[in-house]
Amino acid sequence: MQLVFATHNQNKLEEVKKLTPSNITLISLSEIGCTEDIPEIGKSLEENAQIKANYVTEKYNLPCFADDTGLLVNALKGAPGIYSARYAGEGKNAEENMNKLLDELVNITDRSAHFKTIIALNLQGSTSLFDGIVEGEIISEKLGDDGFGYDPIFRPNGYQETFAQLSLATKNSISHRGKAIQKLMIHLRQLSNV
Ligand code: IMP
Repeated sequence: MQLVFATHNQNKLEEVKKLTPSNITLISLSEIGCTEDIPEIGKSLEENAQIKANYVTEKYNLPCFADDTGLLVNALKGAPGIYSARYAGEGKNAEENMNKLLDELVNITDRSAHFKTIIALNLQGSTSLFDGIVEGEIISEKLGDDGFGYDPIFRPNGYQETFAQLSLATKNSISHRGKAIQKLMIHLRQLSNV
């Protein structure tokens, strides 16, 4: 089965390909000729994931799944949440987003946070949602070179390392996106009866 993963993020694509069973061929947005940035104008992770999946299914008439992820920090009442990608402002990068978050948390002792991913799948005329959460904390400096986004400052519970210090295999086995993708893959296996 061919399935579009609606992302332009090469890191994410590589993460998810490693979790995809061999009977499913993941196709990226660039492979279907979609170069535009799909606007994330929803008010929740669920809405944004559905907007992205629907954009591809409606425009290209293809089965598709899309994810939306937020980092929710308890001391900041769930911020940056759905605004995680543009926390430091439009056009700002991951370094600037992390710097802003570290500044906001100076002198704050409750550093607990979680990543949450929602995946929306459009297949055979219906939409299904899958979620995944990983709990952890925001440390006070950036550690590690791997991963992307907020990985250098997020340490998952039960680990001494940040996501940027863990191997991709370990990150995938415990991460928000890994858990949501595993639910998606179980669903796809049930459908194709393999
Ligand atoms: P998106 O929903 O994938 O666009 O992600 C929203 C924001 O969360 C972006 O700033 C990403 O860099 C960040 N993000 C998403 N997934 C991860 C992750 O696995 N680790 C660190 N940051 C992430």
